[in-house]
Amino acid sequence: MKLKSRVLQQGFLLALRFVSLVLWSFPGARALDNGLAMTPTMGWLHWERFMCNLDCQEEPDSCISEKLFMQMAELMESEGWKDVHSKGLKLGIYADVGNKTCAGFPGSFGHYDIDAKTFADWGVDLLKFDGCYCDSVEHLEKGYKRMSLALNRTGRSIVYSCEWPLYMWPFRKPNYTEIRQYCNHWRNFEDVYDSWQSVKSILAWTSSNQKRIVDVAGPGGWNDPDMLVIGNFGLSWDQQVTQMALWAIMAAPLLMSNDLRHISPQAKALLQDKDVIAINQDPLGKQGYRLRKEDNIEVWERPLSDLAWAVAMVNLQEIGGPRFHTISIASLGQGLACIPDCMITQLLPEKKKLGFYQWTSDLKTKINPTGTVLLRLAAT
Ligand code: GLA
Repeated sequence: MKLKSRVLQQGFLLALRFVSLVLWSFPGARALDNGLAMTPTMGWLHWERFMCNLDCQEEPDSCISEKLFMQMAELMESEGWKDVHSKGLKLGIYADVGNKTCAGFPGSFGHYDIDAKTFADWGVDLLKFDGCYCDSVEHLEKGYKRMSLALNRTGRSIVYSCEWPLYMWPFRKPNYTEIRQYCNHWRNFEDVYDSWQSVKSILAWTSSNQKRIVDVAGPGGWNDPDMLVIGNFGLSWDQQVTQMALWAIMAAPLLMSNDLRHISPQAKALLQDKDVIAINQDPLGKQGYRLRKEDNIEVWERPLSDLAWAVAMVNLQEIGGPRFHTISIASLGQGLACIPDCMITQLLPEKKKLGFYQWTSDLKTKINPTGTVLLRLAAT
């Protein structure tokens, strides 16, 4: 039976059709075989904030409906979200490599080609392909590969967002080199929740697996630590700063899951911060890593184009007030960030020029509990 009619039978067409809406640029050069996602994907996704609420009678403003997605799309246009990365709005859709999606709706197993073709006919630009309801690890691997090939065969440019390694880990270590050949980004770890505990656990997983995952990321293929929950309920201001700064350091897809109709000016400014987004979207496309952890302060760094570096200092101590932390400039950027000197700008929590620093200097910063100071070091 054709996928379209299967879905119609479930009375789920609208929700599926509008299940996610994304926005990103089209690259000029080809990297992987589909030439997409040369910088991390950016956009909006309903899942964390709105989940699978289909009760439009009781909750007309927050149920998954055409209205919700069209309202978000209109706000992306009118409230400057699109300008951040101004190549126009694109459409994403969600499906699953197995027999059912995680929420129990029909999966694509056995129908990869017809589903890929249907999505292409509908004008879909991104497929988020989940990994629930697979009966074996072979099914999982083969399914993710087959869907990648099926998408390519449609001839339409469709970004392929996988969860392959997340579902692989319980069986065996994922082969990231292979995954990169098939996917434009891939989820490694559990779903993000609207909480500091969740954001913290994603950062901890990423740093403890960085040897395995950092080098594989680059133009065309990215590690995906899941959605930004900035602008919701669970994170304090400092924790929202930490999520934005570290998602930039990690070269992560920036997929917001929030309610753009009700977002504070502060959260909006953070999400639209052009300097921080420029770090995330840096064309060199190298993912950052945790450099060290000392006394509950983590130092992360990311090499950028033009010999610049981004440095993030996270204060993980959850007792007491702001803490002072002094770093030696020579310890940053593999010793190369400031030879003989560099210009340092603090980007978060607020922007200020810190001035010129020499290779031999120290830099003292003040970091709020669970907050982050994000710096950009520019070669002179
Ligand atoms: C899984 C994914 C999430 C989300 C839900 C939807 O849990 O990891 O990102 O797509 O399914 O059911």
